[in-house]
Amino acid sequence: MIRAIDGDALRTGDGRSRQAAPLVRVRILRQDVAGGESYWERFEVPHEPNMNVISLLQKIAAAARTQDGRRVAPVAWDCSCLEEVCGSCTMLINGRTRMACSALVDKLLEENGGEVELRPMSKFPVVRDLVVDRRRLFRSLERVQAWVPVDDSYDHGPGPRISPEQQQDAYPLSECISCGCCLEACPQFTKIEPVLRDGESDADFEARRRQAFDAAFLGAHAISQAMLFNSHPTGGMIADERMESLTGRGGIQICGNAQNCVAVCPKRIPLTRSIARAGRAATVWAIKKLFDR
Ligand code: SF4
Ligand code: SF4
Ligand code: FES
Repeated sequence: MIRAIDGDALRTGDGRSRQAAPLVRVRILRQDVAGGESYWERFEVPHEPNMNVISLLQKIAAAARTQDGRRVAPVAWDCSCLEEVCGSCTMLINGRTRMACSALVDKLLEENGGEVELRPMSKFPVVRDLVVDRRRLFRSLERVQAWVPVDDSYDHGPGPRISPEQQQDAYPLSECISCGCCLEACPQFTKIEPVLRDGESDADFEARRRQAFDAAFLGAHAISQAMLFNSHPTGGMIADERMESLTGRGGIQICGNAQNCVAVCPKRIPLTRSIARAGRAATVWAIKKLFDR
């Protein structure tokens, strides 16, 4: 599973030999620039107990040499919290979307014949190597206004009380870390990667990108957050605006209910429950709009 270094023994200061650390084989799909060609590179890293994928990447970046000794640019990736909170380290690890900080190397070697394979998420444009542009994920949250609106900063006193049952119901949804795993796994969420046209200004390009995002599927994370904030006594004040977004272009009607999203969510958020609730709310909303005419 893990190959020993060639010659398999190192000599210590007192002349005795000791066993060299076994090597972990890693295959990474790299890309030098946005829109560029991607290519595979192989690396080998001395094995240490309890390594995660981030520690593997740190060693690869520090050595910046391929398996055959060629000097290369350090591999780029995103991470911050290292404890499954910031949501920035999502990548395809052995073909499955997951968080690099919580993916343990020994388990990965077992599931993939002794090699770890790393690829960037496929539903977002690559910036470099394993770093992707996740702006669309955050734009979806803006589209559904995934926040409690506060239009000033003076003290309003205590907010409305929420029963323990309501808290229990809402808490799992509040654990979303905007990692994008649910979007990567969703057949209805497809990649949008506009290219700057000749003579197009940055402002026009940005507006075109925004239009493309706003016409496309919101994704399970945004649907779930819309349900979370609509159920909140203060957040619910703009529930109608959220329902407009949820039932508009790229809304809940695009969801094919394949349920891939719930299977890959690292926080085990009950996304299918949120999607079912959003579907029911959309029906009620459509009937209400019919009678309001
Ligand atoms: S249930 Fe809907 S959001 Fe989830 S993976 Fe399927 S199509 Fe995508
Ligand atoms: S719903 Fe789950 S998979 Fe989707 S962004 Fe939030 S934490 Fe990640
Ligand atoms: S580094 Fe923050 S979730 Fe992995």
